[in-house]
Amino acid sequence: MRLKRICDMTEVDAQMSNNPEHDLKNYSTKVQQKVKKLVNDILASVYYDINTVCVMRTNARLDPNFENTTHYQIQFRESTALLDRVVSYTFDPAPHADPRGMLRRLDGFVKLFGWKMLSICMLAEGFRRACREISHPAIWMVLIKKFKDNRLSLEVFARSRNLDWRGQLLKYSGLGLPKLENELRPARSMWQQHPHHIVQSVENKVKRPIYENYPQINIDRCIIDSSKWETLEDPTTRTIYDGRCDLCRSPEICDCKLDPSPGTLVELVERPGTGTGVRALTNFKKGDILGPFIGELLPPGYSGDPVYALAHISKKDADTTIATVSPRHYGNWTRFLAHSCNASTAFRARTIGDRTVMTIEAERDISAFEDITINYGKGYWIGKTCMCGEKNCVSKISKYNDSFW
Ligand SMILES: C[S@@+](CC[C@H](N)C(=O)[O-])C[C@H]1O[C@@H](n2cnc3c(N)ncnc32)[C@H](O)[C@@H]1O
Ligand SMILES: [Zn+2]
Ligand SMILES: [Zn+2]
Repeated sequence: MRLKRICDMTEVDAQMSNNPEHDLKNYSTKVQQKVKKLVNDILASVYYDINTVCVMRTNARLDPNFENTTHYQIQFRESTALLDRVVSYTFDPAPHADPRGMLRRLDGFVKLFGWKMLSICMLAEGFRRACREISHPAIWMVLIKKFKDNRLSLEVFARSRNLDWRGQLLKYSGLGLPKLENELRPARSMWQQHPHHIVQSVENKVKRPIYENYPQINIDRCIIDSSKWETLEDPTTRTIYDGRCDLCRSPEICDCKLDPSPGTLVELVERPGTGTGVRALTNFKKGDILGPFIGELLPPGYSGDPVYALAHISKKDADTTIATVSPRHYGNWTRFLAHSCNASTAFRARTIGDRTVMTIEAERDISAFEDITINYGKGYWIGKTCMCGEKNCVSKISKYNDSFW
């Protein structure tokens, strides 16, 4: 498993080294853009690396062979080594021990965000590299602002994936580090939830997604209640009429599965007016399959879920509906995608392995920290107002048409 690389970190830092100006506003637009992109990449690498470290830890627990445990231990050891240096610096801020100012910057980081956040970020290789390689104050200031804006998001991400941020701080307990004991208090049970049972609210708090008074439960495969169907056969079972597998191109039934990893690098965030939506935590490329649309499979034409339901159509004939996928109570993150009249993703009917599936696929490149959107179709907005704000918004156009006629 490889941690994410950020290539031009030192390059951008070096390019700015002969200008000591702290405020990015005093640099050319080109430099400003480079720094913003670099800072975006660094934060995206922190999410990516935290996720990877959590996967390594799970692998090491499930199968504690030499390779799995070594992968995890290396990350943990490197993180602890740097933490040790920050702790020593807190007690004795000697400038000779810190010629490039890295420990001073990290000391400032702890004062702003606390030990817990430092421990979370330190487990990410991308963060450790940024600490070592970014010395320019203007870049560091932009990076700190980015961490401020994403503080809750990072904590939700790390804690909902069980990152062992406490484990590496425990050895410093009792040393008298300011505020540490408070931060080491046992965590609330909310954090043991599936990541997609947690929404960051507009008030910058966390809450469960609730619909019709029920918490919305995350599932990884569609469910089917046969009592609601006339046949016992799963309607999404692949047949010869569904054509080749879209992953391996095999005309025979194969054992391909969709890669679940894109779904681990998105988060649920509430937006004013439109409710819970989805934000990317990594860069996606045009054409990427982001995930399957999952829910309860109900007969075609089911009308009991006008908010979330999607027609599972045939790949060969878009006018044929195989089932209605209703994720209002049981579903995955894709049910929370907001609509946009200029959407970044689209639904596609696919044949994968032994099933047919509706997928969400990137229509263009999507940057880390951008909200991901999809087009629900014009019919969805009859009698409702779309608030996407795009120039070509279906609601703006229909309003114009109404007043015109
Ligand atoms: C499939 S759900 C998306 C998840 C939903 N926001 C939630 O909180 O569970 C669709 C609903 O989200 C809201 N929504 C999504 N996109 C919207 C948009 N562009 N304008 C207005 N409301 C939107 C509407 O309430 C819509 O009925
Ligand atoms: Zn296949
Ligand atoms: Zn719109």
